[in-house]
Amino acid sequence: MTPLLETRSLSKTFGGLKAVQNVDLRIEANRIVSVIGPNGAGKTTFFNCLSGIYRPDGGSILLEGRDITGRPPHQVCQLGLSRTFQNIRLFPEMTVLENVLVAQFQHRSLSPLPLLLHSPHFCAQEKQSRDDALGFLDFVGLAQYADTLSSSLAYGLQRRLEIARALATRPRLLLLDEPAAGMNPQETIDMVRLISSIRDRGLAILLIEHDMKVVMTISDDILVLDHGVPIAHGAPDHVRKDPQVIKAYLGEEISN
Ligand SMILES: Nc1ncnc2c1ncn2[C@@H]1O[C@H](COP(=O)(O)OP(=O)(O)O)[C@@H](O)[C@H]1O
Ligand SMILES: [Mg+2]
Repeated sequence: MTPLLETRSLSKTFGGLKAVQNVDLRIEANRIVSVIGPNGAGKTTFFNCLSGIYRPDGGSILLEGRDITGRPPHQVCQLGLSRTFQNIRLFPEMTVLENVLVAQFQHRSLSPLPLLLHSPHFCAQEKQSRDDALGFLDFVGLAQYADTLSSSLAYGLQRRLEIARALATRPRLLLLDEPAAGMNPQETIDMVRLISSIRDRGLAILLIEHDMKVVMTISDDILVLDHGVPIAHGAPDHVRKDPQVIKAYLGEEISN
């Protein structure tokens, strides 16, 4: 069967630095796959290649069998791959609801003309968009904050809003770059639940996460990068016992 996403020997260098080297990865629909590795291992660079922010300088990326290597981010998004960022990227001066609406409109490439002409068609479309956006906010637990300025949301809730925005572009594969970074233990547990419920909606998730408890609990499959090189790949039980992985983490706790 054609996997949802496949990378073949994906590589990216910056000057002389090989940030990602020959990464082969297959993600099936409805799976949670984590990418782990020490700081600077190339995890975010790998995401940036997948989502079209960086053009890889070797290898290829196939989304549902279609070669998307080198496509710009908006095209990759329209083809079904959406992401969040390690550093939150919201429109701070917009409300929570507006942030999701903008993501929806960007995705659908709608013309603003019907809006300017106040056409009945647009009104129906606008109502549908609002209802859809509120549905995504409800799903991530932010419905009550719809009219709040996004910049005044607590940090953990801003992370949830980022996920609502990504979901609003209707991806089949969602890339999450450290969604639980900076969260307290309860927020982290809630984030794990949210990620599981996204998978229950039928999406596949590619996750970068430092919290090994989270990674080991939630992942079907784990890819370990070290200095851009894949050093292990497989189920959590396989990866946590791998001597190279233990060495790369220099004794960090990965057994829980
Ligand atoms: N735009 C860039 N230009 C130059 N070097 C970069 C750039 N982005 C990342 N790097 C380098 O690539 C390596 C991998 O970085 P990154 O992918 O951010 O790692 P991780 O997300 O695993 O911490 C690091 O050495 C980093 O300094
Ligand atoms: Mg990173």
